Amino acid sequence: MPEDIGTGGSGGTAGSGGGGSMPSAGSPGTGGTPASDAGDAGPRDGGRTTLLDNPVADLPQDLVDVGIYTAIPSLTMTDARAFYYEPKHALWSNGLEKSRFMVLPKGAKIDTSVRDAWNFPVGTLFVKTFSYRDSTGKVIPIETRLIRRVSDTGEVFEQWTFDVYEWNAGGTAAKLIDIKLRTPRQAIVDGKTITHNIPKLADCWNCHIANKTPIIGFDELRLNSVLQGQTQAQLDKVIGSGWLSAAPAKPWLVITDPNPLQEQVFQYIQANCAHCHNGEERLEPGARYPGLDLRWDKILKNTVNIMTMTVGTASGYRIVPGDPSKSILFLGVSRQGSAEVKPMPLVGVDVVDAKAVEMLRQWITALKP
Ligand code: HEC
Ligand code: HEC
Repeated sequence: MPEDIGTGGSGGTAGSGGGGSMPSAGSPGTGGTPASDAGDAGPRDGGRTTLLDNPVADLPQDLVDVGIYTAIPSLTMTDARAFYYEPKHALWSNGLEKSRFMVLPKGAKIDTSVRDAWNFPVGTLFVKTFSYRDSTGKVIPIETRLIRRVSDTGEVFEQWTFDVYEWNAGGTAAKLIDIKLRTPRQAIVDGKTITHNIPKLADCWNCHIANKTPIIGFDELRLNSVLQGQTQAQLDKVIGSGWLSAAPAKPWLVITDPNPLQEQVFQYIQANCAHCHNGEERLEPGARYPGLDLRWDKILKNTVNIMTMTVGTASGYRIVPGDPSKSILFLGVSRQGSAEVKPMPLVGVDVVDAKAVEMLRQWITALKP
């Protein structure tokens, strides 16, 4: 966990109460002055309300009025109602750092009756900030994404909104932007200047509405881990806060395999591919491909010595054991194939994940025919 990215609010407090009803005992990690509203579930600044007080209101133009970050430009001072978490299997995003928060409306619960598709109540907010470090190690935020549930009737994209606040170059303020088109931004990753594209709305839908539930990274599988410096699993904290309709039965979901390399591959593919390739009917029609099921327990069966099936991609075997250079899946992820091989993931990648490519190369090379 990056030290100086928000772990404040209830996220820093083991077993803190549900819906912000308990004061935040955990003073955020580093620097800054304490937020005036720490631990107070009511409007801040003597009556000034934020989106957290009325999550289905029109979105404010300025991120500060969303109310998650209480002392911008500090990213560590956060409202006590915002729960910091890290999905156990995260998505590759051009090598950028990410921090995430969930805010549940006071007293509301997440319906967990479908194990891998939790149903979040109206008023739930998810926030995710993308950042990089400059040459001095300072965290420079680029964009803060927001997903919220505004209704429980109508089409999926009427029930959920997807928005982005773009930070200015100095990282001192962030404004709501129009996401009809992608917005390119420069960042520094591993000493190199890269271009990161802030996604357009259609991209958000491609990944989030292709999934079984629009919320991808907050479930039994992803919360089944203990964050650095803490003693309780994230899922235990969520259960302890009273946020779930029913606690998941033990043992909780986990991706394992006797072969450690294969285990890593399954985890990676689950995190980076299964929201589109999930074998389920999609929530909404569009450019997704659920028919190829890449959930971790289906990967081998559906890829090794199996032909590709769409007309949009080069024909061939998804995986040829022992030969990455003939495996369409490998050529797609490494982007080393011919023009007919669609790059994978289809959206969201401007910089190839070189470590993952190497991992897949080793794994496929070692697979026995
Ligand atoms: C390439 C696929 C992809 C695209 C495009 C994408 N997301 Fe996501 N998003 C994910 C995945 C996977 C996760 C969960 C894993 C993680 O957080 O690392 C996630 C997580 C999130 C979260 C935290 C809640 C959750 O679902 O886990 C927010 C908020 C979010 N995305 C907002 C957006 C918005 C807004 C857009 C469009 C501007 C967008 N995303 C575009 C794949 C995508
Ligand atoms: C945003 C959604 C999305 C994501 C994320 C995504 N894919 Fe795909 N994938 C598609 C679509 C859509 C197609 C069909 C493309 C076509 O035929 O035009 C496809 C096609 C493929 C194919 C070839 C078609 C076939 O029948 O075998 C492979 C292999 C594949 N994807 C692997 C992956 C892998 C591996 C990942 C993760 C590293 C991934 N995909 C991530 C949407 C996605």
